[in-house]
Parts: sequence; structure tokens; C-alpha cells
Amino acid sequence: MQNIILIGFMGTGKTTVGRALASQLGMTQVDMDEAIVQREGRTIAEIFSDAGEAYFRDVESEVLLELVNREKLVITTGGGAVLREANRAIMLQKGLVIALDATEEEIVNRVKNDPDRPLLAGDPRERVRILKQERSGLYQFAPIQIDTTKKSLAHILEEIQAQMVTIKPSWEN
Ligand code: S3P
Repeated sequence: MQNIILIGFMGTGKTTVGRALASQLGMTQVDMDEAIVQREGRTIAEIFSDAGEAYFRDVESEVLLELVNREKLVITTGGGAVLREANRAIMLQKGLVIALDATEEEIVNRVKNDPDRPLLAGDPRERVRILKQERSGLYQFAPIQIDTTKKSLAHILEEIQAQMVTIKPSWEN
């Protein structure tokens, strides 16, 4: 069985949904940011401040490549994992890609107090607005698109399952 890869802007619910989806489908959830932190032995914020974003993106691409070559994983990506065309291509090739989205307001409420999101440092509301604009369209390559705004986890899982049924034959084997 192919992997499932969850993409989406920060705060759209990838980790929470990924965990629940994995347990529902008997798969294993692996979070790319957690894998990066483990590998580097420092937080995301530290990697950004010590080594810079370009270095973080290189590690992110390497971790993605390693994970997609395993099986039966629900891979939850960081919001910027879609920035590189090569990453988007490998995701499509190696898994069923599901994009989560939410309104700016909901995203800000979910992420505003998290000190480990360096790209939102300063004014999170403004940063979310700018980054969302810069990245508009970058999550559209996923065949499954889910808006998580004001929806319960159960509702989101139902929507994902319903959409998966329609495309299942193309990814199951
Ligand atoms: C990032 C999103 C973060 C993390 C890093 C960069 C981004 O992951 O990878 O701070 O560029 O959108 P989450 O989407 O899990 O917050």
C-alpha cells in the first residue's frame, strides 16, 4: 500500500488529522518536522536561526525522500515542504497526497502562541497573510483537498474517507 502524504499551510491540522487517519487505517504516522528535529538534535527554531532556512529546506527534502521510500506511512509534512518542485513531484509519485486548508483567521488562532514556528515570528497575523499569499496555488497539486475550518476531527476524517473512495483504485497497490 502506498503512503498517504498530508500537506498544507501551518496550522491547517496536518499532525492531528494525520495521527487519527493513521490509526483509523492501521498505518503509521510519521511527522517530518519531528524527524528533522530528531536528526538534527535541535528545534526547528534553532535550525532556522543557527543554519538558515536554505539548510532546513535541504534537510527537509532529504527526510522526505527517505520517508516516501518506506511503506504504509501517513507522512505529515511541514507547511513549506511543497516549495520545491522536486518535492511536489516525489510526493505525487510516491503517495496519495491530501491537502488541508483553513482560513487565515483559524490558522492564526491555532498557531499564534507556538514559539517553534520561526516563519511566523513577529506579527503572526501579518506573516500568515503574506506567506499564504506567496504560497497560493502550491498546495493545489493534491488530488484530495479538504478545508478544515470549523470542522470536527470526525467530520474531517469522514470527508477524507469519502474522497479516498473515489480515487482508491489508483493508489491502493
Ligand atoms: C514551515 C512549517 C513548519 C516547519 C517550519 C517551516 C513552513 O511546519 O516545517 O517551521 O515553511 O510553512 P508546520 O506546517 O507543521 O507548522
